[in-house]
Amino acid sequence: MEPKYMIYGIFPLVMSMLLLPSPTVSITKCNFPAIFNFGDSNSDTGGLSAAFGAAPPPNGETYFHSPAGRYSDGRLVIDFIAESLGLPYLSAYLDSVGSNFSHGANFATAGSTIRPQNTTISQSGYSPISLDVQFVQFSDFHRRSQVFKKQGGIFENLLPKEDYFSEALYTFDIGQNDLTAGYKLNMTTEQVKAYIPDVLGQFSNVIRKIYGEGGRSFWIHNTGPVGCLPYILDRYLVTAAQIDKYGCASPFNEVAQYFNLRLKETLAQLRKELPEATITYIDVYSVKYTLITQAQENGFQDPLIACCGHGGKYNFNRLMKCGAKKTVNGKEIVIAKSCEDPTVRINWDGVHYTEAANKWIFQQIANGSFSDPPISLKISCHS
Ligand SMILES: *[C@@H]1O[C@H](CO)[C@@H](O)[C@H](O)[C@H]1NC(C)=O
Ligand SMILES: *[C@@H]1O[C@H](CO)[C@@H](O)[C@H](O)[C@H]1NC(C)=O
Ligand SMILES: *[C@@H]1O[C@H](CO)[C@@H](O)[C@H](O)[C@H]1NC(C)=O
Ligand SMILES: *[C@@H]1O[C@H](CO)[C@@H](O)[C@H](O)[C@H]1NC(C)=O
Repeated sequence: MEPKYMIYGIFPLVMSMLLLPSPTVSITKCNFPAIFNFGDSNSDTGGLSAAFGAAPPPNGETYFHSPAGRYSDGRLVIDFIAESLGLPYLSAYLDSVGSNFSHGANFATAGSTIRPQNTTISQSGYSPISLDVQFVQFSDFHRRSQVFKKQGGIFENLLPKEDYFSEALYTFDIGQNDLTAGYKLNMTTEQVKAYIPDVLGQFSNVIRKIYGEGGRSFWIHNTGPVGCLPYILDRYLVTAAQIDKYGCASPFNEVAQYFNLRLKETLAQLRKELPEATITYIDVYSVKYTLITQAQENGFQDPLIACCGHGGKYNFNRLMKCGAKKTVNGKEIVIAKSCEDPTVRINWDGVHYTEAANKWIFQQIANGSFSDPPISLKISCHS
């Protein structure tokens, strides 16, 4: 974590004195002018909604007071990241109405995987906007945004400056769906583990290509404890012996941890290969697992039960997901409604987290406590 500044060499004494009171924020703050995000539903701010149908109410109810393209009652971790950097919430690249990309763009869509899947979205639910496609969209955006920005007029204030592409924070939260995709094809855990190197190879390729387009600061979330989510607990047969003492499905969490271990190694390799990059790995898995397993201590309830859903042990039914309606006596009624108080709940809809949980997760990761190297968000442009 040696600062890469000439100025340290020139005024080491002065700088070290200045640095004393608050070493992490005062001098080295990055002032990221933009964020470019890549991912799945954990960070989708409207991509899937724009392309394949809007997330229905009550999504968005707590903060936006109507659906806002997010699978949550409110803000996502990426929204708290943007807020904390003094940047506007990210518009989805695929959203052609009302978008403003002056401080970045979001390429994530719900259901995205790193590797392209060989199934359609209607067959399997996985988005065709896999990470390789997200990169193509980013690259196209990079090139064309500059052509249009030069034309001035309305585009001047809707598109990022060229410099922003090298100064921006590039954020990633993707991989969870690559793991579940194998299980959906009835693969064993061993078979899923066997393709993880291929998944991470494709992930690395995208990081290299973004570096090739000038990207330097990479903020990469690992994948969460998917075995603690109702959509997994409800769908897959897990034996009693495979349920941990908190009620989570161990095989799924083990595969997530295996992915994370390999991801961490992959990033160590990329740091060697891309000398000007700052690559931060964030252990979101540990933060989410702590939240779920120590829910009460942290002011939350029913960590394994969806707030918004319909029936069953986990208040989750994959045929009647959050917002699902039914016609009763000729009248349409919502049968998968929100719980009374999402602010004390962790799981929103069986797959995603509530705004309250997302805020808590953001607060844990922002100061670098779960980062490798251990640097905070605000200084994550410096390796
Ligand atoms: C899709 O099929 C191709 C060709 O058989 C294969 O190489 C690729 O690994 C498959 N992708 C996935 C995600 O299974
Ligand atoms: C886009 O957002 C930026 C930052 O919030 C703002 O300064 C700019 O005026 C907006 N552009 C338009 C055309 O509204
Ligand atoms: C997986 O197994 C289930 C149960 O045997 C079967 O219904 C389903 O068609 C299988 N799926 C695939 C993709 O082979
Ligand atoms: C980071 O923030 C969390 C949440 O506010 C706090 O519990 C933790 O002690 C902080 N860690 C450090 C190293 O400042």
